[in-house]
Amino acid sequence: MQVADMAEEDLYIVYKGVHLIKQTHTPESLKYYDEFSFRPEDILIVTYPKSGTVWMQEIVPLILSQGDPVVVDTVPNWSRVPWLESRAFIHNLDQRPSPRVFTTHFQYNMMSTGFLKVKPRVIYVMRNPKDVFTSYSHFSRMTSYLVSPVTQTEFLHKFLDGKAIFGSWFNHVKGWLSAAEQQHIMYISYEEMILDLEASVTRMAQFLDTPLDSEMIRKITDRCVFKNMKKNKMSNYSLMPSKMMDQNGSEFLRKGIAGDWKNHLTAAEAEYFDEFYRKQMQDVKYTFVWD
Ligand code: A3P
Repeated sequence: MQVADMAEEDLYIVYKGVHLIKQTHTPESLKYYDEFSFRPEDILIVTYPKSGTVWMQEIVPLILSQGDPVVVDTVPNWSRVPWLESRAFIHNLDQRPSPRVFTTHFQYNMMSTGFLKVKPRVIYVMRNPKDVFTSYSHFSRMTSYLVSPVTQTEFLHKFLDGKAIFGSWFNHVKGWLSAAEQQHIMYISYEEMILDLEASVTRMAQFLDTPLDSEMIRKITDRCVFKNMKKNKMSNYSLMPSKMMDQNGSEFLRKGIAGDWKNHLTAAEAEYFDEFYRKQMQDVKYTFVWD
């Protein structure tokens, strides 16, 4: 049997009510995360998948190194800023000096008691869910460890109903936006980063208490714009075996724009999506750039 033909139950598990990838979110991985010892100086990048995670895994280390590119040029993003839920025990994280930087796609109500107690700094990145869906559709087709969408409409329903991996985009965003304590959380959107990356890097540097002069900010911004970052083999997944991620049809750093959903969704799908969004988000006070 080809991996691409594998059924959902072969590829996914359900953990705390959401689908996760069986191959990487092993019981050992999940236990490790649940018992992980956070430090107050830790920095956690939190995203729903396809919202700009890898972009942040480039920006934050560059801010912390004050623009020195050695780390981003020599260490693949998945070990530079590991996902805590996904076999993170292989990285000897307790031996890393502070400030350590990690990633997670977990929803707020999945976070451990250790996280809630220690309150490490969090940068939470959100993206227009129609663009998340668009990016996700392409990504699902190129990876062997995700269920390939049968049709776009079928995948759209799955996505809206929270059946894609890491669950509902709506629960993810609403959960993190209503986190019990928010002084340690910075909220930013993919669209703000697209509109003004320099201002976004400045805001992140301030949040991380890392003063950078304008020359350093410009240097970091220049490295992290799409066309430049796409060339970094430590971040563009070209090191990943093609049987796991086949980038021939669609690359990981695919388009890097806001609004590509207009080229992807039919008018009927967009209308259905908007109505679903309106109902789900009507009580949310946050002002999103894409609205
Ligand atoms: P597209 O598929 O729309 O191009 P994640 O890292 O959370 O999986 O998100 C991947 C998305 O972020 C992809 O979106 C990818 O192209 C985009 N991305 C990654 N680096 C980027 C950058 N430097 N500038 C703009 N978009 C970027």
